[in-house]
Amino acid sequence: MERVGMMNNSSSNGQSLWHSSSSQSPKTPTTMLDRALSSRRPHSDADLSDSGESGTDESKTKRPHVYLLASNFVSRIGHQWLPCVIVALLFLVLLFLTSLAFHSSSFVCVSRFDPAARIGFFGFDGLESDFGALGVPWCRSKHGKEVEWTSKDLLKALEEFVPIYETRPVKNNMHGMGFDHSFGLWFMARWLKPELMIESGAFKGHSTWVMRQAMPDTPIISLTPRHPEKYLKKGPAYVDGNCTYFAGKDFVDFGSVDWKNVLKKHGVKDLNRVLVFFDDHQNELKSRIKQALKAGFQHLIFEDNYDTGTGDHYSLRQICDQSYIKGGGHSCFKDGDEARIRSNRKKFWEKAVDTEELCGPGETWWGVRGEMRDDFNHSNTQISYNQHFQNSRYVESILDVYWELPPVAGPSLTHQSRYDPARSTPPVVADGRRRLFQRIGLGRLDKSVFNGYTQMVYLQISKPGS
Ligand SMILES: C[S@@+](CC[C@H](N)C(=O)[O-])C[C@H]1O[C@@H](n2cnc3c(N)ncnc32)[C@H](O)[C@@H]1O
Repeated sequence: MERVGMMNNSSSNGQSLWHSSSSQSPKTPTTMLDRALSSRRPHSDADLSDSGESGTDESKTKRPHVYLLASNFVSRIGHQWLPCVIVALLFLVLLFLTSLAFHSSSFVCVSRFDPAARIGFFGFDGLESDFGALGVPWCRSKHGKEVEWTSKDLLKALEEFVPIYETRPVKNNMHGMGFDHSFGLWFMARWLKPELMIESGAFKGHSTWVMRQAMPDTPIISLTPRHPEKYLKKGPAYVDGNCTYFAGKDFVDFGSVDWKNVLKKHGVKDLNRVLVFFDDHQNELKSRIKQALKAGFQHLIFEDNYDTGTGDHYSLRQICDQSYIKGGGHSCFKDGDEARIRSNRKKFWEKAVDTEELCGPGETWWGVRGEMRDDFNHSNTQISYNQHFQNSRYVESILDVYWELPPVAGPSLTHQSRYDPARSTPPVVADGRRRLFQRIGLGRLDKSVFNGYTQMVYLQISKPGS
């Protein structure tokens, strides 16, 4: 597969910045769950006689007693009832076993979102393997190009990013990015080395700060209705000195900016050197991709790339969830395999959706119950399956690269309990690799920062006319 970069010299520059301290590949997951077998086994008669304690074993002295009781009972009810009693008992045993087979999960006495319980129930493999049969959809690009970075690059960079993240000004970024996406944005900005970074949706400025850590001298343009300096009055926020804010009374939506003019003012001639980051919860197709294409931008990152049935705007992941894509399309059949798997997964992952939530009336599963959501779910439109299908064909026709950021580490390590790992790509640090997780400093972070992963995605849009 062809690999692509953003700028002419990005590859060599990007590589030279990496620390070379880690040689461990994330592709060697520990997949075996050590199940401790009970060393206890029933004592045989021989064991007991060997121990010399058989004479004092209470169970032995009780056995004839139970037998006597049973035979007394049988003789009392009379021999004519015996066959009926045996048949009834067999029937009850059969009934119990059948119900156990059908409802085995409900017999598992575990706390709902407890990580140890999840591993005990699914095993490390099972954390993701249930969906393996169904797969996870992926947007197809025109020529099958891939990003030039590898999982080894991600792992090395992760080690470098942890101490940077620890110095963030906005420690509590609830409703904004957590650790996984902060890392992804920092990593990609640093690798791509843009001449200009544009962000849409800044909130308290955490994402602006992340981009600044990646590229200390690169100008930023930030579009956000409320200026981050407003948040400063109430608590921590970040306002950047080399950032042009379209915020507050100067706010302009990304789709209404005169980009030709703005880019000219910033001295940007090559649109291939601009990185656009969206975290504004707008319909990614109708608003953002079409607007970015019109302006000629080629490198886009979407922070929230919600899975089908979830989220507040129509996302790339949703658009590409199609029956003709491997792992795409859904069954709304209530007694089907998918329904069973979904209801099991829902027991363990807060954000997992079961078939009832996934499917709207008339088995409309695409988008969110057949809706194309927009603007933090303030507006939404019911679309037909045919429209949904056309949307994905359109995206495929303009896409050079589609790359979803993997989660930084498996849930047995991060203890995140929100997103279902079966609906994401394998993590950078695989489940079970606790020592590696600790060594790169991830163990120092508060668990809550690992809860916000929603498949951040990098898109490279084809050059016009290609
Ligand atoms: C999830 S927050 C962004 C979080 C931020 N990127 C971070 O990680 O800290 C979404 C932001 O988008 C802003 N927003 C809402 N509508 C917008 C629009 N049309 N264009 C740009 N930003 C918008 C909201 O005011 C809010 O600040």
